[in-house]
Amino acid sequence: MDKFLISGGRALNGSVAISGAKNSALPCMAAALLTAETVTLHNLPYARDIITQRRLLEDLGATVLTPELRTHKINAAHIEVFEAPYELVKTMRASVLALGPLLARFGKAKVSLPGGCAIGTRPIDLHLKGFELLGAEVRLEGGNVVARAPQDGRLIGAIVNFEKVTVTGTENLLMAATLARGKTVLHNAACEPEISDLCELLNRMGARVRGSGTPTIEIEGVEALGGAQHTIIPDRIETGTFIVAAAITDGELIIKDCQPEHLTSVIEQLREVGVNIEELNQSTLRVTRGTALRAKNVTTEPHPKFPTDMQAQYMALMTQAEGEAIITETVFENRFMHASELQRMGAQIHLNGRIATVTGPTKLTGAPVLASDLRASASLVLAGLVAQGETVIERVYHIDRGYERIETKLRAVGANIQRLRESVTAPLSEDAAPDATALAS
Ligand code: EPU
Repeated sequence: MDKFLISGGRALNGSVAISGAKNSALPCMAAALLTAETVTLHNLPYARDIITQRRLLEDLGATVLTPELRTHKINAAHIEVFEAPYELVKTMRASVLALGPLLARFGKAKVSLPGGCAIGTRPIDLHLKGFELLGAEVRLEGGNVVARAPQDGRLIGAIVNFEKVTVTGTENLLMAATLARGKTVLHNAACEPEISDLCELLNRMGARVRGSGTPTIEIEGVEALGGAQHTIIPDRIETGTFIVAAAITDGELIIKDCQPEHLTSVIEQLREVGVNIEELNQSTLRVTRGTALRAKNVTTEPHPKFPTDMQAQYMALMTQAEGEAIITETVFENRFMHASELQRMGAQIHLNGRIATVTGPTKLTGAPVLASDLRASASLVLAGLVAQGETVIERVYHIDRGYERIETKLRAVGANIQRLRESVTAPLSEDAAPDATALAS
């Protein structure tokens, strides 16, 4: 398993380009299952989860051509398998996004029920209840969810009131409803920009979806969908992570190819703690620190509030801020795994259930630490960048799932970060750094 070795203490300087949003790319790839025609997606991030999702589509019988690194041409004309197996779902929960499209187009689907994960229990009961409202019969068999559309194989439009805001639940129901007979209304739908991006693709494919970006989405079912071309939106969480990277190292970064209006709450929060964020144009930010950082409380909530996917990075930043910051995580019940690793680097963090209190500023020192999930890994990288001495982060496969070549991007703006590979004979990816050091362990 690869590790990162970071020698901290260098201010980042330069410009960095943001990749496509992983959490938009995943549902858009699944949406290609809704049609026999080709769906072409541009600006996919070169991240592990995208490769896993591609594998899932291919296992189902789709063909995926990659004319360029970040473009996929997906054709699902000949789907032969209607199942997302445990092997895939256990590595990537977003495989459950195959359920809605398969059920809608073929009237049947089987997906392994994802278990808990590092950030919480993460059930999919709301997805399943929604499918039942659309007329599907849903059973649990041997750890798998088996869903079937009514007799004629077509779902029926319905009113779905989500008890809780769910991002992939909204996406699954949206996709299922595009081919249902009649109208579906989703109440308390997620408003994340990734939902709007998916709706834009679906409408290009011929779907009739209105209200995306609001809590009420209406879908008028159609008989069939066609092919389309679509460019994935920039990753707002990667953008936020690089803003924090500039601030935590007291550097200056120009962040290109981003969409600042997708992270208004993050930008506001970071400005309030003392980060200078200038919008140079609609897709470019300049980030500097200027003053000392001030602690400020934050609570994670669904969009447009402060995202849970930025909580860990914000916690790393708060270790460098003056005062006490109370961080309340309301979306997932167990998303503070990074706190104990940050403590090993010298951070003062007190945990009480879903509340973490960070007291700063503290001088962090490099230490061996363990990445537990994607965003936790990002927070450890950020802490490593500002810590004195060397930090070794283990299990960086977590970060590879969702960030495109983070170490390459960081190195280009002055960070001293290397990927340590398991063995000299292990295949190196095409971005392998010339300074990548081999580990004997
Ligand atoms: N929930 C239920 N029942 C359900 C669905 C969700 O109780 O049927 C609960 C969850 O347990 C959680 C809350 O509702 O407490 C919100 O979960 P949600 O369904 O919105 O999360 P998700 O769709 O599984 C997506 C992102 C996550 C991101 C969350 C919240 C993708 C592929 N994943 O997950 O991204 O944290 O929304 O914004 O879109 C990441 O990128 O690091 C990541 C974890």
